[in-house]
Amino acid sequence: CQSGQTSSGACSASAPAPSAQSPLIPSERPPFYLGTATSAPQIEGAVSTDGRSQSVWDHWAASPGHIYHNETPNVADNFFHRYPEDIALMQRLGLRHFRFSVAWPRVIPSGSGAVSTEGLTFYSCVLDKLLAANIQPVVTLYHWDLPQVLQDRYGGWLSDRVVADYLKFANAVFSALGDRVTLWATFNEPWTFCFNGYGTGGHAPGIPDRSGEKGQVWQCVGNVLRSHAAAVQLFRELVPKGKISMALNSDWCEPLTSSAEDKEAAARQMDFQISIFADPIYLGDWPKSVKERAPPNLLPITPDLAAALNGTSDLFYLNFYTARYVFNQPGALGEWSAGRTDTNSTFFGRDRKPIGGETCAPDWFYVTPWAMRKMLNWVDQRYGHPDIIITENGVCLPGEAATLPGVLNDTKLIEFHRDYVQSAMQAVALDKVKVLGYFIWSIYDNWEWNLGTSDRFGLVWVDFANEQARHPKASTEWVSRWFTRE
Ligand code: NOJ
Repeated sequence: CQSGQTSSGACSASAPAPSAQSPLIPSERPPFYLGTATSAPQIEGAVSTDGRSQSVWDHWAASPGHIYHNETPNVADNFFHRYPEDIALMQRLGLRHFRFSVAWPRVIPSGSGAVSTEGLTFYSCVLDKLLAANIQPVVTLYHWDLPQVLQDRYGGWLSDRVVADYLKFANAVFSALGDRVTLWATFNEPWTFCFNGYGTGGHAPGIPDRSGEKGQVWQCVGNVLRSHAAAVQLFRELVPKGKISMALNSDWCEPLTSSAEDKEAAARQMDFQISIFADPIYLGDWPKSVKERAPPNLLPITPDLAAALNGTSDLFYLNFYTARYVFNQPGALGEWSAGRTDTNSTFFGRDRKPIGGETCAPDWFYVTPWAMRKMLNWVDQRYGHPDIIITENGVCLPGEAATLPGVLNDTKLIEFHRDYVQSAMQAVALDKVKVLGYFIWSIYDNWEWNLGTSDRFGLVWVDFANEQARHPKASTEWVSRWFTRE
């Protein structure tokens, strides 16, 4: 294992943390643990080291106009080289959980052939460091970084050939890391990569089907479900003591009016965003509204597939950020708050009527802590009172105009997490929802997909213009004071 690069980009003095008397630190401690979440393509960099091949996101980012300022993920946070110091910071803060993903193009550069020993060694080293620091890993297999070669060969998630290749990847990772990892996710936010990658075309690999006529999104959804079922079957053999699930995301959909049509539309939007994955897994079938609309290429859930999916989620992983108003838009497949279809897509009709405090991404994201409790209750009731881990939550602060040292006083970020955590605490205390953990997205500012480094979610400010120097903010110490210190 490499020792990591610690010589350059030393931390500046961090911002003063709120004191125990500050209103930013509530008197009651959360009854669940805190962790932070990341993904390989957003933090690792080192995109061609040791034979790693190009991912669909590397490919997408290489075309001008896709990413803010055409920033690439080639270096990102340089976690590949700096992980020892990064893990040391988590240890100092008392964080006991860390979620990261494994890059398929690093582990199997050809997509489906030989496994790279060097690629796996990197993750093995990260794991050893984490465990030595008493930090439990949560490992995501797939966080959107398909090897480009598989997109070129057969259309990526549009082809059922991906199932066998995903299984080879899963096999390599379970075999190498399964002895040291208990908590696993097969996929991160499949809704996001299926709908954006193959629906709107606004994310990698950018193969649009805006009218929905080709049914690309449903092909992707079906292949994700099949891959998940196959991987979990293998997982039971290779990692018998582990727990596994899929990290699903949804906005809380609030009906715009109290009309029956809007209420149904809001429920339907949740069906099309989160239940298209969770219902087949937990309830053995597509949501009723999805079946009624029978979008093209919707995979039939045969008794065999239902049996294969049954029991493949040991706990519910929820990525939750925001709420959105929804009203009825006749004709749309998955009614989002329609009326302004600014992407001209069947899938996204966006109404920007604010539903909470503004963030730096008002096109999709408002501050709605109350919705956390609603969403947790909804998951709890629909899926039979499962253990839930909030595998992501966070808020972005603008990166462009922010400068040191002012940026280190990030009270807004602290207030955001304080309020969302308290909402989750209410769900636990008042509604008896079982929340085990809360993962902040993210420990560091990182490469936020199309938004590059313009939107910053980190507890630690990263100076991308200065060798990725880490600058702990007030929030960095705050998490430690509220969650982790006695
Ligand atoms: C969800 C995604 O999983 C993650 O990759 C992304 O950076 C955050 N949301 C913030 O947008």
